[in-house]
Amino acid sequence: MSFENRVVLITGAGSGIGRASAILFARYKAKVGVLDWNFLRAQETVTMIEQEGGLGLPLEADVSHLEKVTIAVDKVLERFGGIDILVNNAALEFVADVCHTSEEEWDKIMAVNLKGCFIVSKVILPFMIHRRSGVVVNVASISGLLGWPNSAAYCASKGGVIQLTRQMAVDYAPYGVRVNCVCPGTTRTPMIDRLFGFEQYPEEAMRRIAEMHPLGRFARPEEIAEVICFLASEDASFITGVAFPVDGGYTAK
Ligand SMILES: NC(=O)c1ccc[n+]([C@@H]2O[C@H](COP(=O)([O-])OP(=O)(O)OC[C@H]3O[C@@H](n4cnc5c(N)ncnc54)[C@H](O)[C@@H]3O)[C@@H](O)[C@H]2O)c1
Repeated sequence: MSFENRVVLITGAGSGIGRASAILFARYKAKVGVLDWNFLRAQETVTMIEQEGGLGLPLEADVSHLEKVTIAVDKVLERFGGIDILVNNAALEFVADVCHTSEEEWDKIMAVNLKGCFIVSKVILPFMIHRRSGVVVNVASISGLLGWPNSAAYCASKGGVIQLTRQMAVDYAPYGVRVNCVCPGTTRTPMIDRLFGFEQYPEEAMRRIAEMHPLGRFARPEEIAEVICFLASEDASFITGVAFPVDGGYTAK
């Protein structure tokens, strides 16, 4: 796979799946806009990219904030001259059922996970439409495909990301823009370490969840990144509007 002369913007690229994707795109020769609301983490990812001889630009923005996203996107356009691929990856986890989710908590998860995807797409799509080419890969979750216990706002936000993916795919196909999403199963990232950190016996709880995936383990962030790169590549030129599970068989059961 080669992304030579391609520019990618990845949100939430200061950690986990976003960071692994940024590093992989750079290995495949893309120039990478590394956006995170934590600038230090974005900078760390860029340092990792540069250590391998790649090119990255650290960017600080909250994906749910239109003006900040616009400023960050302008920086990418100024530095790299365009954006060919957008990966909407930034999201927050939240553990609670409906009865134990406050209105503020619901709004926060929706603002980052679903509205964030809308905002960054809204800023970048006009450039892709103008050039009559572009690819968007959203990072949803198996929690958008089925009910995951104690995850009301998170599941709803990821279900929304899947539907937004399909909707955008239909609207922008005539302009040569493809839009897909990946639905990872449990993936060993800082998000998962935080979630299991609340358990009394984290290792035991992790083993139980790993066993629920037919392949019997968690994904590595690099395994999700490979599928994101595939969907962004010319190899996927006739794929648009799909929600692609990368879940060790979880949703096949
Ligand atoms: N880890 C899993 O098991 C798993 C499973 C399914 C889906 N996902 C999805 O994969 C994506 C990446 O998750 P991860 O596990 O790598 O998480 P992570 O917490 O390790 O990384 C998320 C990154 O997003 C950034 N971020 C959060 N809110 C932001 C905002 N408003 N603006 C900009 N940046 C923001 C964080 O600072 C962090 O660097 C998310 O969309 C998540 O929902 C993860």
